[in-house]
Amino acid sequence: MNRRDALKLAAAGALITAVSAQAEEDVYKNLQEMKPENPDKLDKGELKHTPQITLADKDTMGYTPVQITIGQGGIMHPSTKDHWIYAIELYADNKLVGRSELEAEISRGMAAFAVKLDNVKVLKARSSCNLHGIWTSTVTL
Ligand SMILES: [Fe+2]
Repeated sequence: MNRRDALKLAAAGALITAVSAQAEEDVYKNLQEMKPENPDKLDKGELKHTPQITLADKDTMGYTPVQITIGQGGIMHPSTKDHWIYAIELYADNKLVGRSELEAEISRGMAAFAVKLDNVKVLKARSSCNLHGIWTSTVTL
């Protein structure tokens, strides 16, 4: 094998490694949008994945603390190396407020943002579980 062939082989190997790593990450993170069968009566799995949005009193700068916890009714989502909430997003009238990226085990599904809610009508939180897809909750203000 000459030097040129060795370089081609090394480049092909690097490309295959990069493509397979991306494919593995895409499979690992389930990007399917999930909806409860009956929004008025969530089952245990739905309660475990549905974001709970909690507002506190507005601060002196006019920002309202908004906490998002993944899980409702005392059923919290787990955070293990194989199953965890890897991202939480908050939207105010469909405008992204912020996104928290979470690591397995060391953190669990919770995020908080301080938000100017003047004239905002709807808050929407999205939680992303690596196994069970993306779950959404909204609060009308
Ligand atoms: Fe899950």
